[in-house]
Amino acid sequence: MNKGALLYEGKGKKLFLTEDENLLVSEFKDDLTAFNAEKKGNEAGKGALNCKISTQLFHLLEKHGIQTHLVKTLDDTHQLIKKVKIIPIEVVVRNIATGSLAKRLGIKDGTVLPFTLVEFYYKDDALGDPIINDEHCLLLNLVKSESDLEELKRLGREINVIMKSFFAERKLKLVDFKVEFGVDTEGNILLSDEISPDSCRFWDMDTNEKLDKDRFRQGLGDVKVAYEEVLKRILAH
Ligand code: TMP
Ligand code: ASP
Repeated sequence: MNKGALLYEGKGKKLFLTEDENLLVSEFKDDLTAFNAEKKGNEAGKGALNCKISTQLFHLLEKHGIQTHLVKTLDDTHQLIKKVKIIPIEVVVRNIATGSLAKRLGIKDGTVLPFTLVEFYYKDDALGDPIINDEHCLLLNLVKSESDLEELKRLGREINVIMKSFFAERKLKLVDFKVEFGVDTEGNILLSDEISPDSCRFWDMDTNEKLDKDRFRQGLGDVKVAYEEVLKRILAH
């Protein structure tokens, strides 16, 4: 499948048209951004690591019945994906309080949550991706109906159950993650975008060492080493 014209460039990926109008090529970039892109960086090889990690996780989720946009991996940094209409809601699922949750609500960093928390953020860079509730989603027509919101929450929780136990077996705590969904031409809701250490938080089970983009956000160094460690543990077993 040939890479055609550039359709869209995001912070972490580029999307290209293909000769099939229903398929796109997704290219994982080495760029890193944080805090509404106020902090920018680049880590050679990061795109390839995220492409591999995301491919593995999408295959895992497919195996458990979650429908995704992934068709196949083309090479180190490219995936062939189904063209979908992205629902502009970032679905964040949290098991442990940290990051913006700890800060916004004054919950002690590292507190294990009494239940899995699902949050919605409006995917809008200009507004800084603000947190929104169900009614805001309906007000802004981000989804067709309340049942779509229930489906997004259900999918977020199901993905969490599958990934949490997968990573626990690999001595990683799945602290929280962000997922995005798209609607295909038949109206199916497909898991889209990526799942990688750019979009998840992973803490080592024993030491709580951060093995995700917080290394970049917080200037802890060894970003690529951490991502390589996550891939290594995914491939172990
Ligand atoms: P937060 O604590 O900064 O709100 O992040 C929650 C989770 O969502 C964390 O795993 C990182 C991920 N995330 C993204 O993937 N993209 C984003 O733009 C933000 C803000 C968070
Ligand atoms: N919100 C950040 C950005 O705009 C991403 C992040 O912190 O994960 O790049």
